[in-house]
Amino acid sequence: MEKTSNMELIERLEREHTLTKDEFVQLISTFTPEEAERAGKLARRLTDEFYGHDIYMRGLIEFTNYCRNDCLYCGIRRSNRELERYRLSSEDILMCTDEGYRLGFRTFVLQGGEDPQFSDEDICEIVRGIKDQHPDCAVTLSIGEKTREQYLMYFQAGADRYLLRHETANEEHYRMLHPESLSLANRKRCLRDLKEIGYQVGTGFMVQSPYQRPEHLAEDLLFIKELEPHMIGIGPFVPHHATPFAEFPAGTLEMTTFLISLLRLLVPEALIPATTALGTIDPMGREKGVLAGANVVMPNLSPQEVREKYMLYDNKICTGDEAAECRNCMDMRFKILGYEPVVDRGDHVSRRVGEADDKQTDLR
Ligand code: 5AD
Ligand code: FES
Repeated sequence: MEKTSNMELIERLEREHTLTKDEFVQLISTFTPEEAERAGKLARRLTDEFYGHDIYMRGLIEFTNYCRNDCLYCGIRRSNRELERYRLSSEDILMCTDEGYRLGFRTFVLQGGEDPQFSDEDICEIVRGIKDQHPDCAVTLSIGEKTREQYLMYFQAGADRYLLRHETANEEHYRMLHPESLSLANRKRCLRDLKEIGYQVGTGFMVQSPYQRPEHLAEDLLFIKELEPHMIGIGPFVPHHATPFAEFPAGTLEMTTFLISLLRLLVPEALIPATTALGTIDPMGREKGVLAGANVVMPNLSPQEVREKYMLYDNKICTGDEAAECRNCMDMRFKILGYEPVVDRGDHVSRRVGEADDKQTDLR
C-alpha cells in the first residue's frame, strides 16, 4: 500500500481532527519545514475561527518553590539542595492579585511545587480571598497531585480551573522522568477527577524531554484527544544544571511549534498557551507559538525578589522584570503582529456565560 504523504495527513487532521498513532509517528518523525508551515497556517485559521486574533493573558503567581517531589527534569525538585526556597504568605499572594487586577488581569494562575506547608484550608482561604476581592476573576490552581476530596474542596472554595500536565502518556517513559513515588496512573486519575468535578482542566507535556521518542509524542496526542482538556500547555524540555538531566539537549522551536499546530488541529477549541519555556529557547518563541496556533500567554506576576528562585530550568526569561513590565512587553509583542492581548476571563468557548455545557456536572 502506498504511504500517505505528510501533506495529506495534515489536511486530513484538519478535516477529521484525529489520525492513527502510526500516522502521527510518521508526521512527527519526518515533517519538513514546508509541512510545518502548512500545518501552522491551517492551525492558525482554526484558532481564528474560534477566538479571532485575541490572545488571552493569564497572570501567573509562583507562590512556593518548596516541592516534596523529585521529578528528574525539574529545577525545584526536592534533591536540589543549592536552591534557596521561598513561600509567599496569603497576604503576599493577595498583593500580587491586587496589582494584577490594577494591570487589568482577570485570570490568576497560582502555581507552586507540591508544598505540604500549605494545608487545604490555606489553599481554600487564598482562593476565597481572591474571589472575595475580585469576584469577576477566574482562579486557576496548578499545585500538583491531590486526592479527589482535596480537588473538590478547592472547587467549592471557588477555584475555576486546574493545570496539571501529564508530562508523558507513555508508562515506561513516565518512569524514566519521575521518581518511583509518582505514577502515570495516579496522574490520569487526578485529571479525570478534576474534569468530573467541573474544573476547566489543562494538561500537556514537555517536548523532547530525555528518552522521548516519536511514539511517545503520538501517545500524548491521542491521550489528549481522549481527555478533551480545555487547555493544553506544551513547552520544550530545557535542561537545569542541578538535575540528573543537566547534560541533555533542549527541545527545539521547530518541534514545539509543529506540535502546537497539530494540537490545534486535533482539539480545535482548546486554549493553548505559548509558554515561557518556548520564549526561553528562542527570543521570538512565544510569537512563533501564536503564529502556529497558540492563543494564550501567561506573563509573570510573582514578586521580583522570588522570580530567580522559581527556576524550573536554566535561563528562564522574565526573572528580572516587574509585573507591569511583563504585561506591557506582551502587549507590544503581540500588537505588532496584529494580535490583541485581552485580559478578560478568557473562558473556554464551552464555558462562556449563557452557554450550557451539559457534559459537566457542576458540584459547586
Ligand atoms: N524544562 C521544561 N519544562 C519543565 N517543567 C518542569 N521542568 C522543566 C524543564 N526542565 C514544566 C513541567 C511542569 C511545568 C510547571 O513546568 O511540564 O508541568
Ligand atoms: Fe516538583 Fe516535580 S519536582 S512537581
